[in-house]
Amino acid sequence: MKANDFPVALVTGANGGIGRILCTTLIQSGYRVILSFRKSDRSLAFYNQMLQEYGRERVESLEMDLSSVTSIKKATQYLLQKETRLDVLINNAGMLGNKRENTNEGYEMHNMVNCLGPTLFTYMLRPLLKPGSRVVTTVSVVLYYGSIPDFFPYPPIRYNRFRQYACSKLALTLLCLRLSELWEKDGITVNMVDPGVVDTPIINIHKWIDPLADVLFRPLIRTPEQGAATSLYLATHTALEGVTGGIYKDMTVCNLPERIRSYQQADNVWRFFLDLHSKQ
Ligand SMILES: NC(=O)c1ccc[n+]([C@@H]2O[C@H](COP(=O)([O-])OP(=O)(O)OC[C@H]3O[C@@H](n4cnc5c(N)ncnc54)[C@H](OP(=O)(O)O)[C@@H]3O)[C@@H](O)[C@H]2O)c1
Repeated sequence: MKANDFPVALVTGANGGIGRILCTTLIQSGYRVILSFRKSDRSLAFYNQMLQEYGRERVESLEMDLSSVTSIKKATQYLLQKETRLDVLINNAGMLGNKRENTNEGYEMHNMVNCLGPTLFTYMLRPLLKPGSRVVTTVSVVLYYGSIPDFFPYPPIRYNRFRQYACSKLALTLLCLRLSELWEKDGITVNMVDPGVVDTPIINIHKWIDPLADVLFRPLIRTPEQGAATSLYLATHTALEGVTGGIYKDMTVCNLPERIRSYQQADNVWRFFLDLHSKQ
């Protein structure tokens, strides 16, 4: 079979704990997988390992830094020239920072990497999404505890990493809900996943307690395989054909509270996003 004959999936954060399982399982399920990652020794080593195991017909790479609008634009332009369709897009990359950081555009880093970046990427790839294409985006249970300030996506005066993470995942959820409504008539589904608490690097506290947590806490939480299972279910299972606009955990749709569905800042976040997109 030629590379073009396989269904195509793209996974962001391909070299992360959950991302590695997503990529490997999708390739083994018959997809040609585009591994998207930031360039580093770790990510290139993973890409080369996948190339060696599965070959060029099944494994490709896409360098992209979700904190940079320029990098996202470059990546989408490359894909739009090279690919004719995308059957599965898994927005899996995400970060929980350990210090205050802003992007070159002045946005708070979590808001860009976890929310605006993946949504911009998805929106710009719309020409590749056809009837039956599936977008799966990773959120987190913390979205239910998040709030979005009037000054979103700019940084707050008093910084708290968990508050920023929750804000970015709530804003991401609101944008995914909009995309699901917008694209439903075109047969493109957009769903979200809460993977649970998973044994991957993102949950480091970056404090003295980390080595202790590695021994006492990590064995009790989900493995990356368990963390990846619901994303894979949404991306590939026939039962999910045409199903859109849900948040899933453990292969089950969650009841999204009305407070989130009718969140007062949703229009502002969407307007900001459209404005950001129109400048590209
Ligand atoms: N683990 C959990 O308990 C948990 C719980 C709820 C939700 N989640 C979500 O699950 C997803 C996967 O995380 P994980 O648990 O697999 O953590 P992980 O191992 O830390 O993976 C995170 C991935 O995101 C990538 N990433 C971070 N910043 C990026 C940027 N600026 N541009 C492009 N890629 C970037 C990382 O790449 P680098 O290697 O270059 O940093 C890495 O590949 C995330 O969206 C996370 O928020 C995880």
